[in-house]
Amino acid sequence: MSNWLNLTDKVFIVTGGSSGIGLAIVRELLADGAHVYNADLQKNQDQGNDSQYLYVKTDVTSDADVDTLVKQVIEKEGRVDGLVNNAGINLPRLLVDSKNPQSQYEFTETNFTKMFDVNVKSVFLLGQAVARQLVKQRQGVIVNMSSEAGLEGSVGQSVYSATKGAINGFTRSWAKELGEYNVRVVGVAPGIMEATGLRTPEYEEALAYTRHKTVADIRAGYKSETTTPMGRSGHLSEVADLVAYYLSDRASYITGVTTNVAGGKSRG
Ligand SMILES: NC(=O)c1ccc[n+]([C@@H]2O[C@H](COP(=O)([O-])OP(=O)(O)OC[C@H]3O[C@@H](n4cnc5c(N)ncnc54)[C@H](O)[C@@H]3O)[C@@H](O)[C@H]2O)c1
Repeated sequence: MSNWLNLTDKVFIVTGGSSGIGLAIVRELLADGAHVYNADLQKNQDQGNDSQYLYVKTDVTSDADVDTLVKQVIEKEGRVDGLVNNAGINLPRLLVDSKNPQSQYEFTETNFTKMFDVNVKSVFLLGQAVARQLVKQRQGVIVNMSSEAGLEGSVGQSVYSATKGAINGFTRSWAKELGEYNVRVVGVAPGIMEATGLRTPEYEEALAYTRHKTVADIRAGYKSETTTPMGRSGHLSEVADLVAYYLSDRASYITGVTTNVAGGKSRG
């Protein structure tokens, strides 16, 4: 078997690894022989703890939870080789709903704060706690899960796009601060993917409303060349493959960039 990535026995923390893209990343890293700590609010019932994998119940927006998680990993393993800041949420809403000012689909301060807490504050908390160790080790990688919407903007997803734009800023700036310690920081920006936990009926209804479309139109866009030049949704494994590559020494001179995994999509 080829071991091109050479991730055997490396130690990684993945946030939001119980579902969707995070789960695909956990599975890829386990298949590569790595040790994986999944920091998620909820356990994935199909993924049992063993000598390679540990679920640690964590609210990534909580400083105390993040501190406990990172201490636990360092106590057990003596080091961390990489962090994947993947946990995230997306609540489609409009800035202004001109047709219905009382609409449930206008952003409120509450959902603004919730999205910035989960998508941005968590990346800061985890990034700082793990980077302290990576700097000591003079080695390590942080991968921030962005979105194609964070690079291009997106109707009905302005706050989501802003959260992802914010973490792209972390990626660029931390790469500059941490390069001298041999610590790399990269971003991965998926486009339209196979269904994950994010794609609930409420999500599809809200997105359709904000775009003056039907849910059927939104669903047709998942595999349309109008939205994505390659005319299909991305496989979750296609994101996990890039994350595994970035975590490996094969990517040893790549830092400070966020890469679309989006089949050529650039507007949405
Ligand atoms: N699915 C897509 O099409 C898509 C596209 C672009 C970017 N992304 C990004 O990929 C990442 C993963 O999304 P997904 O689609 O796999 O979603 P998902 O809902 O399937 O998984 C997200 C996971 O994060 C966990 N989580 C949420 N809040 C948390 C918290 N406070 N503390 C700990 N864990 C928490 C959830 O329990 C869940 O297991 C997100 O950052 C998302 O923005 C997804």
